[in-house]
Amino acid sequence: MTTDRIAQLRAEILDRTRELIRLREAPKPFAPGATTVPYAGRVYDEEEVAAGVDSMLDFWLTLGPQGDAFEKELATVLGVKGTVLTNSGSSANLLAFAALTSHKLGERRIRPGDEVITVAAGFPTTVAPIIQCGCVPVFIDVDPLTMGPRTDQLEDAFVKGKTKAVMIAHALGNPFDLGEVTRFCRDKGLWLIEDNCDSLGSTYDGKPTGTFGDLSTQSFYPPHHLTLGEGGSINIVRDPKLRVLVESFRDWGRDCWCPSGKDDTCRKRFQWQLGELPKGYDHKYIYSHIGWNLKPLDPQAAIGRQQLKKLPRFIQARRDNWQTLRRGLADLADRLDFMLPAHASGWTPDGYTWQAGKPVSDPSWFGFMMLVKPGGAVDRTGLARALDAAKIGNRMFFGGNLVRQPAFVQLKADSMGAGFRTIGDLAGADRVMNQALFIGTYPGLRPEHLAHMVATVRGAFGR
Ligand SMILES: Cc1ncc(COP(=O)(O)O)c(C=O)c1O
Repeated sequence: MTTDRIAQLRAEILDRTRELIRLREAPKPFAPGATTVPYAGRVYDEEEVAAGVDSMLDFWLTLGPQGDAFEKELATVLGVKGTVLTNSGSSANLLAFAALTSHKLGERRIRPGDEVITVAAGFPTTVAPIIQCGCVPVFIDVDPLTMGPRTDQLEDAFVKGKTKAVMIAHALGNPFDLGEVTRFCRDKGLWLIEDNCDSLGSTYDGKPTGTFGDLSTQSFYPPHHLTLGEGGSINIVRDPKLRVLVESFRDWGRDCWCPSGKDDTCRKRFQWQLGELPKGYDHKYIYSHIGWNLKPLDPQAAIGRQQLKKLPRFIQARRDNWQTLRRGLADLADRLDFMLPAHASGWTPDGYTWQAGKPVSDPSWFGFMMLVKPGGAVDRTGLARALDAAKIGNRMFFGGNLVRQPAFVQLKADSMGAGFRTIGDLAGADRVMNQALFIGTYPGLRPEHLAHMVATVRGAFGR
């Protein structure tokens, strides 16, 4: 009787929740210049909210059944061995890198003082884990049109015996030259971490980005392709051993791999003898790494599972929105440089043209990036102001040239120049820092938003 009543109340709560969200989220009228057009944001309907509420009613809270299901579903979508949920994309980067420092990897482990090749323009927490783990980032430049690494500098950055890994983000959804970078890593025996936080759904050579390296990462912060409010994941591309290491660093550094609420998964909980501990010390409390606790909550994963069902639609909308903006701004090529996929030779209203005559990649765009050419009446700041005045969300390319950020200037001073290395003059990263601006491509944009964005950018240049 009580069970029936509980089920009935639960169904009522979920019905009411769905009704509330349907009412609240009904499309609102758009007034150009008065209504804000964000560059990104959560796109959801009653199913995400109902799933979150349902999971809250269970009140399991800690990462559990929904997390397990989400991890399996995301791994299947990507076609990787597994994925491990964490509380942010930044934590995902930290855990991916930390896992490769594990003593359990023997000779291949990354040790303090080792060097890691990365790019100078981008988001800081692609690079921060390298420093946080006591290693030295070596910055190569970016090609300002693709925002990908200048692969011709990889050899210059490499030092035999010191370079251990390459860790680079696919910028704004644009896959970097994975052909060249994976060949380089294979030839030199280096780890590859792909920061795929901004690029879920992008493909290269017909395969999803995030499936080429040893590990890759996602962010589920609201502007990203899926949102869990906060959240991230580490994709275990091939080697399941890396999963155990990632989980250990995420879960306090423990040696035990029991899921939360379970005991004795290894069936020898009281038979281990590790370190200098007495034989039989509870495996649950044996720590093989110096770890953190970076787990998300289970209701977040419940929301994520509903988001995942919408992913194909989200990806298509991001691609379509990018093309709509590109077509609308096509005659501004004298004032703006537009982003191009790696290996593309140009763009026409029918799509990209390719250096080798056939497509290589298909970006799932995080944003629509423009570089304002110097010498005109309107510079990048002028364009940003015009967009702000029209209430159109716009962003610079994150940290620009990271080595010019106060944190890196301080690192250089504190380490007397030993904290990082740079290759060449990083002129590409400087150009991005000085000229780049991006506006949204997210699936919440409607045709009237895109028309307003096009008209505003055109208007800023007097067209
Ligand atoms: C390329 C890249 N990596 C990592 C992150 C960090 O993700 P989070 O905000 O979830 O920590 C971001 C954030 O937007 C990002 O753009």
